[in-house]
Amino acid sequence: MKLGVNLDHIATLRQARGGIEPSPVKAAEICLALGADYIVMHLRKDRRHIQETDLKNLAKIAREKIHLEISATKEMVDFAVSLKCGSVCLVPEFPNELTTSGGLKLNKRNLPEIMRAVKNLQKAGIKVSLFVDPEPSNLRTAKRLNADIVELCTKTYSEARNEKARRAELERIEMATILAKELGLEVHSGHGLNYNNVEDIAHITGMEALNIGHAIIARSVFRGLPQALLDMKLLIEAK
Ligand code: PXP
Repeated sequence: MKLGVNLDHIATLRQARGGIEPSPVKAAEICLALGADYIVMHLRKDRRHIQETDLKNLAKIAREKIHLEISATKEMVDFAVSLKCGSVCLVPEFPNELTTSGGLKLNKRNLPEIMRAVKNLQKAGIKVSLFVDPEPSNLRTAKRLNADIVELCTKTYSEARNEKARRAELERIEMATILAKELGLEVHSGHGLNYNNVEDIAHITGMEALNIGHAIIARSVFRGLPQALLDMKLLIEAK
């Protein structure tokens, strides 16, 4: 099981004072040294946390390890192509949302832009992931779009209000993983995963990587980033 650590919240803390600390690149170095498989950063249209300079600085030391989250706009795709990062995850983005609010809506209105983004990124040698809700139709569309990876959105799972709802959503993610693997897609998941709910997702057969941010950074405030990272790695390791 691979772990991608999302460091947007380190940049959020820095932006609160508009200075240079804490540095997301320094955090990335710590995470990679301690066994994170790659670093996730979301470059948002409003630049509320990660900035282009963070990504350019990280690219100088670990270009291939950058998993960049962006919307499928031309501006963002052109930046990713110039960065030549290892992989990109296309996500929906809305103004004023607290965080990504769910998977991509792969409908007629959005498909041309997403299709163009996938093609242009892959032409530049960048692997492309699509962040989708765990629905069979999304996986078939992702395959048709020639995506390399699907990231299954675990928002509904993470926010389930009772055990019955959590189990039902876990099953939906398990079924989606089976179908995605049958279609030849690499399967990731993420959103709202934490130290209490991650194990069932980590142990789904076929699940290959988890992208986790808020829980790790929140724990690092009290326990330090190295310990928070190691605690998470221990939970997601195969049993
Ligand atoms: N995956 C995607 C596509 C996301 O947008 C986010 C949030 O930025 C995450 C994973 C990480 O979510 P969290 O911070 O809740 O762990």
